[in-house]
Amino acid sequence: MSVSAFIQSLPKAELHLHIEGTLEPELMLAIASRNAVELPFGTVSQVRQAYQFGNLQDFLDIYYRCMSVLLTEKDFFDLTRAYFDRIAVQSVRHAEIFFDPQAHTGRGVAFNTVCAGIRRGLDYGFERHGITSRLIMCFLRHLDEADAMATLETALRHRSLIYGVGLDSGELGNPPSKFARVFTRARAAGFAVVAHAGEEGPPEYVREAVDMLRVQRIDHGNRALEDSGLVAELVESQIPLTVCPLSNQKLGVVACLERHPLRNMLDAGLVITINSDDPAFFGGYINENYQAMQDRLGIDDHALAGIARNSFDAAFMDAQRREELLAELDEYVADHLGTPSAAT
Ligand code: HPA
Ligand code: ZN
Repeated sequence: MSVSAFIQSLPKAELHLHIEGTLEPELMLAIASRNAVELPFGTVSQVRQAYQFGNLQDFLDIYYRCMSVLLTEKDFFDLTRAYFDRIAVQSVRHAEIFFDPQAHTGRGVAFNTVCAGIRRGLDYGFERHGITSRLIMCFLRHLDEADAMATLETALRHRSLIYGVGLDSGELGNPPSKFARVFTRARAAGFAVVAHAGEEGPPEYVREAVDMLRVQRIDHGNRALEDSGLVAELVESQIPLTVCPLSNQKLGVVACLERHPLRNMLDAGLVITINSDDPAFFGGYINENYQAMQDRLGIDDHALAGIARNSFDAAFMDAQRREELLAELDEYVADHLGTPSAAT
């Protein structure tokens, strides 16, 4: 997919990105080889051929298998560094990065090893590219509450590194209510809170994430559109949705990109951002997601600039950084479109 010059240079924030989902086949095979980890594929093209998913669980099965190559601090550093190198040329100014500690501790990799590698990667991103970031620890919702609570206790020892908590993995049958007490504890400890909801799960899960987990953003949220009362509440509260178009297409959340609900979401008055989710698996980073919505839905540059504005407004950044980035965006839009960007 070729990305327009306007999208390429549009300043933006990424708010829904799983660092393990940025593991490109080339790096995965290189790390597998140096760590002597067996994988079911030997070449990059075999890997890419395996990336065909009928639903979220199909993807998760491969995703957890692929990340099993990550064993050392250097592996996590190399992974994170490669992501920052990619987004630096996509004009991402700020990135909020999910990681799944239980997917690593569950196979014997220490929490400290994961955190130390990612921390070095975040430092690299700032020092090399000037990209600010936040780290958000996701609980695997297919595991039980006790496992999540123990993970939260461990995270308290890394309080300065981990900014927020989230909820991911298989959604159906694992409602947000399962983790209400974990999120209450996380909020009391001062963590920002978000959750995946309404990707495959019903609108009730979105409502639970808002009412019971008290999330500050909903990750995905597509199925909220099935409940007009819920949409009205999300509009009223201005809780942002982190939408991931290419992910939605690859996981069958939408039949095709032409039928993606993004325009309906904007028209309804929801606060929408565009993000990449697991770009190494879904065929594009953030700019390819912006471009896909322009190509397939006709979302124009002005509306995309409004979405970039939403990404800064919805980010967990300090007031000074937000002002700086909004000013940069306004200047960019005035230079290229001749008018200031409106909130979308
Ligand atoms: N949904 C749930 N869990 C995930 C996803 C997702 O899109 N990506 C990585 N883990
Ligand atoms: Zn996700």
